[in-house]
Formats: sequence, structure tokens, C-alpha cells
Amino acid sequence: MGFWDEHISIGGLVGPRFMAAPLDGITDSPMRQLIREFSPDELLFGEMRHVSCVVNERTGHCLKYDKVEHPIAFQFSANTEKNIVGAVEKVLEAGFESINLNLGCPAKNVVRSGSGSALMADLTQLTLVLKEFMRAIDGRVPFTVKIRSGFKEKNAVEVAQLAEGLGSAAIMIHPRTQPQGFTGLPDHDIVRQVKDAVKVPVIMSGNINSFKRAQKVYDQTGVDGFMIGRALWGCPWKMREITDAAKGETFTLTLPEIINLARRHLQLSLDHYGPRGFHPFKKHLPVYIKGVDNASDIRNELVNSKTAEYMFEVLDGILPVYNAGALNLEHSTSNQTPTTLP
Ligand SMILES: Cc1cc2nc3c(=O)[nH]c(=O)nc-3n(C[C@H](O)[C@H](O)[C@H](O)COP(=O)(O)O)c2cc1C
Repeated sequence: MGFWDEHISIGGLVGPRFMAAPLDGITDSPMRQLIREFSPDELLFGEMRHVSCVVNERTGHCLKYDKVEHPIAFQFSANTEKNIVGAVEKVLEAGFESINLNLGCPAKNVVRSGSGSALMADLTQLTLVLKEFMRAIDGRVPFTVKIRSGFKEKNAVEVAQLAEGLGSAAIMIHPRTQPQGFTGLPDHDIVRQVKDAVKVPVIMSGNINSFKRAQKVYDQTGVDGFMIGRALWGCPWKMREITDAAKGETFTLTLPEIINLARRHLQLSLDHYGPRGFHPFKKHLPVYIKGVDNASDIRNELVNSKTAEYMFEVLDGILPVYNAGALNLEHSTSNQTPTTLP
């Protein structure tokens, strides 16, 4: 068995080297269910939620997921120790298999409160928060952190060692600083340094959109695993495409299959969010139909739709035109990673 077939253990949670990254607003339950259809064993992550949000939420919406999503990790953000115990209890009651702390979010409102990537710049506060998570979880599920290369200054090695020392079972790293956001080249040197500095698995997150890219990153850094993020957006089959490529196989979908998938995505959004569920689906749409000849007209129709029924109609209208040979699709397996939000 070679490197790419071997599973890794994150604090006893054993699974493939590839996993789906958390993407707030994108990898919600409907999206994760679709990813799961193609990738049966890979670890999935919920979207980042602040501990106070989880404790105070009455609907239980952020804890809602479908059983097919197992194994699934919950991702928290936190700036103080407050509410960590209560939030962890709710998440463990809901059956999540692992807990991750976000130390990477660059959003202004998040870092202003001292959460996300800002916590990487305050090691005293970070220590308090990490200790509180360990106390709250008490060994019941693996705890991990997802870091950047640093907040303003690169200190990923120090943060990774601190987190490992306090019990983090793996280090997920998106090797960009907070001001870099999601653009610029990921810093593979710092990933290599983190890998050399800790014993727990190190998982790379950043621009992994093909097996070739994963191989290159592995050669340069020696990481243990890979998170697929934006490449999954509009392509819930992307991780499958990558894992098949690792086995020397090719995975592709036809346009009718992609349109059918978009249809199911819309239905899952309605099931999950109720009748207004077509709104969150709008974020995914442009990517599904990217590459269709008259995509911009269709996109406008879809994005301006006021009902789910109309959206279904527009989606259904694509196929007859395609079958008549008037549409061309160059979508599926391109190695593009969007760097801006559609
Ligand atoms: C729209 C969007 C939402 C994101 N939300 C989260 C999040 O909730 N938690 C997190 O740890 N990272 C989040 N990220 C960062 C990704 O998980 C990932 O680390 C980053 O996008 C780089 O990987 P990629 O090039 O594969 O997308 C988000 C990124 C984007 C673009």
C-alpha cells in the first residue's frame, strides 16, 4: 500500500488523507451531503461558528446535519474561555466526531473581536482558550486547530507546537497571513517547517485543486493530508476526482449529470432551510453552470429568480438545448480554483 492509499489517524479518527475544508456559507449541510455522495469516507467540516452562537442558538440550526455526513468535525471560533464548555457539550451531544478551533479566519469583524487568525497573535489568550477546549472535551473526541502562517507575522511553527503540546491531534494549515486573505502563493516553506516541528499529522489547506498539485505540495512539504476548499465550490465531486486520480483513474461528469446535481442541490437546500432555501443555493449556481455557452444569461435568470419553482424550470430548460447540440460544457474537471467569490 502506497502513501496515497494509506489512511491517517487524527487522534484515533482514521480516514483518507484528503478531507473537505470548512467554507463558511458554502459547505453547509446540503453541500456536504452532495460531497458525501462522491466521497464516502473523507472527513467533512462544518462551517465556523462562535462558541457563544452555539450556546445561545435556540433553533439548533448550526448543529443540524444529515447522518450521511459522518464522519464530520465541528469548527468553532472563540476569543475567550467563555461558553466553551457549554458549546462543546451541545456539539458532542449532536454527535460530531471531532472538534476544530479556527485560528485562521481573516474577516475584519472576526479578528476585531480577537477570534480567528487574531488569536495566533496572542499566545497567552490562545493558551487559555486551548486549555479550556481540552478541559471541556476531556478526551471524548479528537481536537484539532486550523491555523494560518500567522496573523500579521508568521509564527505558525510556534502556534503549532503550542497547540500540539496542549493536545491538538493534528494541525491544519492554510499558509497565508491574515492580510493575504485567500490570494497570493501559499507559503510551502512554512508548512515544511511546521511539519518538521510537530509529531501530529499536518494537513495542508490552500489551492489543492488536483492530484498533481497535492503531489507537488507533498514533495515540497511532506505533509500528511490535504484539505480541498474552493475547488469543491460548484464541484462537489472534486475530492472524488482527486482521489480517483491518486489511484490512476479518471472521474468526470456529463452536463446532464451536473445539471441533475444542481437540481438535487436546490432540493436539499429547500429541505434544509425551508421554502426560502433557494436563496443560499444561489451562491452555488454560477459555478455549476460555469462553462455553459450562454451561462451569463442563464445565471442572470437564475440569480434573479424569486421562487424555487422558477429555478427548477430554468435548470430543466438547459438540457433540451444541450441535447439539441446547442450547448457546450467545459466545466467539470478544470483545475481552476476561484480566488474571488462568484
Ligand atoms: C468563502 C470561504 C469561506 C471560508 N470559511 C472558512 C471557515 O468557516 N473556516 C475555516 O477554517 N476556513 C474557512 N475558509 C478557508 C478555507 O477553509 C481554506 O483554508 C482556504 O480557502 C484555502 O484553501 P483552498 O484554496 O482549497 O480554498 C473559507 C474560505 C472561503 C473562500
